[in-house]
Amino acid sequence: MNSDLMMSTKIAITYEKGGCGKTTTAVNLSAMLADKGYKTLLVDLDFQSYATSYYGLFDDNNPGIYEVMKSEKNPKDCILKTKIENLFLLPSKHELRNIETVLMMKTKRQEYTLQMALKEIEADYDFIIFDCPPSGERIKENALTCCDYVILPCIPDDYALHGLLCIAKEIVEIKQFTNPNLKIMGILICMMEQTKSKKAYADALKTQDIFPCFETVIRKNTTLQEAINAHVPVHRYDKRSNGAKDYMALTEEIIKIVKEGK
Ligand SMILES: Nc1ncnc2c1ncn2[C@@H]1O[C@H](COP(=O)(O)OP(=O)(O)O)[C@@H](O)[C@H]1O
Ligand SMILES: [Mg+2]
Repeated sequence: MNSDLMMSTKIAITYEKGGCGKTTTAVNLSAMLADKGYKTLLVDLDFQSYATSYYGLFDDNNPGIYEVMKSEKNPKDCILKTKIENLFLLPSKHELRNIETVLMMKTKRQEYTLQMALKEIEADYDFIIFDCPPSGERIKENALTCCDYVILPCIPDDYALHGLLCIAKEIVEIKQFTNPNLKIMGILICMMEQTKSKKAYADALKTQDIFPCFETVIRKNTTLQEAINAHVPVHRYDKRSNGAKDYMALTEEIIKIVKEGK
Protein backbone atom coordinates (compact mmCIF):
# COMPACT_ATOMS: atom_id res chain seq x y z
CA MET A 1 0.00 0.00 0.00
CA ASN A 2 1.01 3.60 -0.59
CA SER A 3 1.95 5.20 2.70
CA ASP A 4 0.03 8.48 2.43
CA LEU A 5 -3.34 6.75 2.83
CA MET A 6 -4.17 5.18 6.15
CA MET A 7 -6.38 2.43 4.85
CA SER A 8 -7.90 0.93 1.77
CA THR A 9 -10.76 2.78 0.06
CA LYS A 10 -13.48 0.93 -1.83
CA ILE A 11 -15.45 2.80 -4.47
CA ALA A 12 -18.46 1.49 -6.41
CA ILE A 13 -19.24 3.05 -9.78
CA THR A 14 -22.89 2.48 -10.47
CA TYR A 15 -26.04 3.88 -12.05
CA GLU A 16 -29.45 2.66 -13.13
CA LYS A 17 -28.60 2.61 -16.78
CA GLY A 18 -26.04 1.42 -19.33
CA GLY A 19 -24.03 3.64 -21.63
CA CYS A 20 -23.49 6.52 -19.21
CA GLY A 21 -19.73 6.20 -18.67
CA LYS A 22 -19.43 3.78 -15.74
CA THR A 23 -16.81 1.49 -17.30
CA THR A 24 -14.94 4.40 -18.92
CA THR A 25 -14.73 6.02 -15.49
CA ALA A 26 -13.71 2.78 -13.74
CA VAL A 27 -10.90 1.84 -16.15
CA ASN A 28 -9.41 5.33 -16.40
CA LEU A 29 -9.75 6.28 -12.74
CA SER A 30 -8.17 3.03 -11.58
CA ALA A 31 -5.22 3.42 -13.98
CA MET A 32 -4.66 7.04 -13.00
CA LEU A 33 -4.68 6.15 -9.29
CA ALA A 34 -2.18 3.38 -10.08
CA ASP A 35 0.04 5.80 -12.02
CA LYS A 36 0.05 8.07 -9.00
CA GLY A 37 1.59 5.21 -7.04
CA TYR A 38 -1.52 3.87 -5.36
CA LYS A 39 -1.86 0.11 -5.48
CA THR A 40 -5.24 -0.33 -7.11
CA LEU A 41 -7.55 -3.25 -7.80
CA LEU A 42 -10.23 -2.96 -10.47
CA VAL A 43 -13.08 -5.42 -9.90
CA ASP A 44 -15.23 -6.13 -12.96
CA LEU A 45 -18.77 -6.88 -11.79
CA ASP A 46 -20.37 -6.82 -15.24
CA PHE A 47 -20.78 -10.14 -17.07
CA GLN A 48 -20.25 -8.27 -20.33
CA SER A 49 -16.65 -7.93 -19.12
CA TYR A 50 -15.85 -4.61 -20.80
CA ALA A 51 -13.45 -3.54 -18.04
CA THR A 52 -11.65 -6.91 -18.29
CA SER A 53 -11.43 -6.61 -22.08
CA TYR A 54 -10.30 -3.00 -21.83
CA TYR A 55 -6.97 -4.15 -20.44
CA GLY A 56 -6.82 -7.08 -22.87
CA LEU A 57 -7.33 -9.66 -20.15
CA PHE A 58 -10.58 -11.35 -21.14
CA ASP A 59 -10.43 -15.14 -21.09
CA ASP A 60 -13.60 -17.08 -20.39
CA ASN A 61 -11.52 -19.94 -18.96
CA ASN A 62 -9.91 -17.81 -16.26
CA PRO A 63 -11.39 -17.92 -12.80
CA GLY A 64 -12.47 -14.49 -11.56
CA ILE A 65 -14.98 -12.62 -9.47
CA TYR A 66 -17.68 -15.24 -10.22
CA GLU A 67 -15.70 -18.08 -8.63
CA VAL A 68 -14.59 -15.79 -5.79
CA MET A 69 -18.19 -14.85 -4.95
CA LYS A 70 -19.18 -18.50 -5.06
CA SER A 71 -16.33 -19.23 -2.57
CA GLU A 72 -14.77 -21.64 -5.05
CA LYS A 73 -11.57 -19.62 -5.38
CA ASN A 74 -9.37 -17.42 -3.26
CA PRO A 75 -9.22 -13.92 -4.79
CA LYS A 76 -5.42 -14.08 -4.61
CA ASP A 77 -5.49 -16.88 -7.19
CA CYS A 78 -7.68 -14.92 -9.62
CA ILE A 79 -6.26 -11.39 -9.51
CA LEU A 80 -4.34 -10.54 -12.68
CA LYS A 81 -1.50 -8.11 -13.22
CA THR A 82 -2.10 -5.51 -15.91
CA LYS A 83 0.55 -3.85 -18.07
CA ILE A 84 0.27 -0.85 -15.78
CA GLU A 85 2.38 -0.94 -12.69
CA ASN A 86 0.26 -0.92 -9.49
CA LEU A 87 -2.93 -1.79 -11.38
CA PHE A 88 -4.49 -5.21 -10.80
CA LEU A 89 -7.71 -6.72 -12.10
CA LEU A 90 -10.21 -9.19 -10.75
CA PRO A 91 -11.77 -10.31 -14.03
CA SER A 92 -15.31 -11.08 -15.09
CA LYS A 93 -16.60 -13.67 -17.57
CA HIS A 94 -19.91 -14.44 -19.26
CA GLU A 95 -20.88 -16.95 -16.58
CA LEU A 96 -21.15 -14.05 -14.14
CA ARG A 97 -24.62 -13.48 -15.58
CA ASN A 98 -25.70 -16.36 -13.29
CA ILE A 99 -24.66 -14.49 -10.15
CA GLU A 100 -28.17 -13.13 -9.53
CA THR A 101 -29.49 -16.71 -9.26
CA VAL A 102 -26.55 -17.77 -7.09
CA LEU A 103 -27.25 -14.87 -4.72
CA MET A 104 -30.98 -15.50 -4.73
CA MET A 105 -30.46 -19.11 -3.66
CA LYS A 106 -28.56 -18.01 -0.57
CA THR A 107 -30.83 -18.22 2.43
CA LYS A 108 -28.79 -15.89 4.62
CA ARG A 109 -27.01 -12.55 4.24
CA GLN A 110 -26.59 -12.64 0.48
CA GLU A 111 -25.88 -8.86 0.53
CA TYR A 112 -22.54 -9.51 2.27
CA THR A 113 -21.24 -12.10 -0.21
CA LEU A 114 -18.87 -9.71 -2.03
CA GLN A 115 -17.65 -8.07 1.17
CA MET A 116 -16.82 -11.41 2.78
CA ALA A 117 -15.21 -12.74 -0.39
CA LEU A 118 -12.74 -9.83 -0.58
CA LYS A 119 -12.12 -9.30 3.14
CA GLU A 120 -8.81 -11.11 3.15
CA ILE A 121 -7.25 -9.06 0.35
CA GLU A 122 -8.67 -5.58 0.83
CA ALA A 123 -5.85 -4.38 3.05
CA ASP A 124 -3.39 -5.16 0.23
CA TYR A 125 -4.71 -2.27 -1.89
CA ASP A 126 -4.97 1.50 -1.50
CA PHE A 127 -8.02 1.58 -3.75
CA ILE A 128 -10.53 -1.03 -4.89
CA ILE A 129 -12.75 0.19 -7.72
CA PHE A 130 -15.91 -1.74 -8.64
CA ASP A 131 -17.33 -1.42 -12.15
CA CYS A 132 -21.02 -2.27 -11.68
CA PRO A 133 -23.39 -3.63 -14.34
CA PRO A 134 -26.44 -1.62 -15.46
CA SER A 135 -28.83 -4.31 -14.21
CA GLY A 136 -28.75 -6.99 -11.54
CA GLU A 137 -30.23 -5.84 -8.26
CA ARG A 138 -28.38 -8.24 -5.99
CA ILE A 139 -24.91 -7.69 -7.40
CA LYS A 140 -25.37 -3.92 -7.08
CA GLU A 141 -26.66 -4.36 -3.53
CA ASN A 142 -23.51 -6.37 -2.78
CA ALA A 143 -21.26 -3.66 -4.21
CA LEU A 144 -22.97 -0.88 -2.23
CA THR A 145 -22.86 -2.97 0.95
CA CYS A 146 -19.13 -3.58 0.57
CA CYS A 147 -18.00 -0.04 -0.41
CA ASP A 148 -16.99 3.12 1.42
CA TYR A 149 -18.06 5.41 -1.42
CA VAL A 150 -20.27 5.43 -4.48
CA ILE A 151 -19.82 7.44 -7.68
CA LEU A 152 -22.85 7.98 -9.93
CA PRO A 153 -21.89 8.74 -13.55
CA CYS A 154 -24.76 10.09 -15.60
CA ILE A 155 -25.46 11.88 -18.84
CA PRO A 156 -27.19 15.26 -18.48
CA ASP A 157 -30.53 14.43 -20.11
CA ASP A 158 -34.19 13.94 -19.43
CA TYR A 159 -33.63 10.61 -17.70
CA ALA A 160 -30.90 11.75 -15.29
CA LEU A 161 -32.95 13.12 -12.40
CA HIS A 162 -35.40 10.23 -12.60
CA GLY A 163 -32.52 7.73 -12.52
CA LEU A 164 -31.03 9.49 -9.52
CA LEU A 165 -34.30 9.32 -7.63
CA CYS A 166 -34.41 5.54 -8.23
CA ILE A 167 -30.89 5.13 -6.96
CA ALA A 168 -31.50 7.47 -4.00
CA LYS A 169 -34.18 5.08 -2.73
CA GLU A 170 -31.80 2.14 -3.04
CA ILE A 171 -28.98 3.98 -1.26
CA VAL A 172 -31.27 5.00 1.61
CA GLU A 173 -32.15 1.33 2.11
CA ILE A 174 -28.51 0.21 1.95
CA LYS A 175 -27.56 2.83 4.56
CA GLN A 176 -30.46 1.77 6.74
CA PHE A 177 -29.92 -1.97 6.58
CA THR A 178 -26.50 -3.15 5.41
CA ASN A 179 -23.97 -0.31 5.22
CA PRO A 180 -24.60 2.78 7.39
CA ASN A 181 -21.12 4.10 6.50
CA LEU A 182 -21.70 4.30 2.75
CA LYS A 183 -20.88 7.80 1.46
CA ILE A 184 -22.03 9.27 -1.80
CA MET A 185 -18.91 10.75 -3.32
CA GLY A 186 -20.86 12.42 -6.07
CA ILE A 187 -22.79 12.53 -9.27
CA LEU A 188 -20.36 12.63 -12.17
CA ILE A 189 -21.63 14.45 -15.23
CA CYS A 190 -20.36 12.50 -18.25
CA MET A 191 -20.37 13.05 -22.02
CA MET A 192 -21.01 16.75 -21.54
CA GLU A 193 -21.64 18.82 -24.67
CA GLN A 194 -21.96 22.57 -25.00
CA THR A 195 -25.57 22.65 -26.17
CA LYS A 196 -28.33 24.66 -24.55
CA SER A 197 -30.23 21.60 -23.41
CA LYS A 198 -27.18 19.74 -22.02
CA LYS A 199 -26.19 22.87 -20.08
CA ALA A 200 -29.69 23.14 -18.62
CA TYR A 201 -29.71 19.49 -17.54
CA ALA A 202 -26.17 19.78 -16.16
CA ASP A 203 -27.25 22.84 -14.12
CA ALA A 204 -30.21 20.90 -12.79
CA LEU A 205 -27.86 18.09 -11.71
CA LYS A 206 -25.45 20.51 -10.05
CA THR A 207 -28.13 22.36 -8.12
CA GLN A 208 -30.29 19.44 -6.92
CA ASP A 209 -29.92 18.80 -3.22
CA ILE A 210 -30.22 15.02 -3.02
CA PHE A 211 -26.60 14.20 -3.84
CA PRO A 212 -23.28 16.06 -4.03
CA CYS A 213 -21.94 16.58 -7.54
CA PHE A 214 -18.28 16.48 -8.60
CA GLU A 215 -16.79 19.79 -9.69
CA THR A 216 -15.11 17.95 -12.55
CA VAL A 217 -17.31 17.40 -15.58
CA ILE A 218 -16.31 14.76 -18.17
CA ARG A 219 -16.68 16.21 -21.64
CA LYS A 220 -17.70 14.16 -24.63
CA ASN A 221 -14.42 13.17 -26.25
CA THR A 222 -13.77 10.58 -28.96
CA THR A 223 -10.22 9.96 -27.70
CA LEU A 224 -11.83 8.00 -24.85
CA GLN A 225 -13.26 5.61 -27.45
CA GLU A 226 -10.00 5.38 -29.40
CA ALA A 227 -8.07 4.46 -26.25
CA ILE A 228 -10.24 1.34 -25.83
CA ASN A 229 -8.82 -0.22 -28.99
CA ALA A 230 -5.29 0.52 -27.85
CA HIS A 231 -6.09 -1.14 -24.47
CA VAL A 232 -4.49 1.71 -22.56
CA PRO A 233 -5.96 4.37 -20.26
CA VAL A 234 -6.67 7.66 -22.01
CA HIS A 235 -3.79 9.60 -20.39
CA ARG A 236 -1.31 7.10 -21.79
CA TYR A 237 -2.97 7.22 -25.20
CA ASP A 238 -3.08 11.01 -25.54
CA LYS A 239 -2.37 12.98 -22.43
CA ARG A 240 -3.39 16.27 -24.03
CA SER A 241 -6.89 15.10 -24.93
CA ASN A 242 -9.90 16.47 -23.07
CA GLY A 243 -10.68 12.93 -21.91
CA ALA A 244 -7.27 12.63 -20.24
CA LYS A 245 -7.49 16.12 -18.70
CA ASP A 246 -10.98 15.55 -17.31
CA TYR A 247 -10.24 12.13 -15.83
CA MET A 248 -6.96 13.41 -14.33
CA ALA A 249 -8.90 16.26 -12.69
CA LEU A 250 -11.47 13.76 -11.41
CA THR A 251 -8.71 11.56 -9.97
CA GLU A 252 -7.24 14.57 -8.11
CA GLU A 253 -10.68 15.50 -6.80
CA ILE A 254 -11.26 11.94 -5.55
CA ILE A 255 -7.87 11.70 -3.81
CA LYS A 256 -8.62 15.00 -2.05
CA ILE A 257 -12.04 13.76 -0.86
CA VAL A 258 -10.54 10.50 0.42
CA LYS A 259 -7.69 12.29 2.22
CA GLU A 260 -10.09 14.71 3.86
CA GLY A 261 -12.21 11.73 4.85
CA LYS A 262 -15.41 13.38 3.65
N1 LIG B 1 -16.91 11.21 -22.21
C1 LIG B 1 -17.13 10.40 -23.24
N2 LIG B 1 -17.04 10.88 -24.51
C2 LIG B 1 -17.28 10.08 -25.57
N3 LIG B 1 -17.60 8.79 -25.49
C3 LIG B 1 -17.70 8.24 -24.26
C4 LIG B 1 -17.47 9.01 -23.07
N4 LIG B 1 -17.65 8.21 -22.01
C5 LIG B 1 -17.97 6.99 -22.50
N5 LIG B 1 -18.00 7.00 -23.84
C6 LIG B 1 -18.35 5.89 -24.73
O1 LIG B 1 -19.71 5.57 -24.54
C7 LIG B 1 -19.91 4.17 -24.54
C8 LIG B 1 -20.51 3.72 -23.22
O2 LIG B 1 -19.61 4.04 -22.19
P1 LIG B 1 -19.34 3.03 -20.96
O3 LIG B 1 -18.32 3.66 -20.09
O4 LIG B 1 -19.07 1.66 -21.47
O5 LIG B 1 -20.77 3.07 -20.23
P2 LIG B 1 -21.42 2.07 -19.16
O6 LIG B 1 -20.32 1.31 -18.49
O7 LIG B 1 -22.14 3.00 -18.23
O8 LIG B 1 -22.36 1.20 -19.91
C9 LIG B 1 -18.55 3.56 -24.81
O9 LIG B 1 -18.43 3.29 -26.19
C10 LIG B 1 -17.57 4.64 -24.41
O10 LIG B 1 -16.37 4.59 -25.14
MG1 LIG C 1 -20.12 -0.76 -18.23
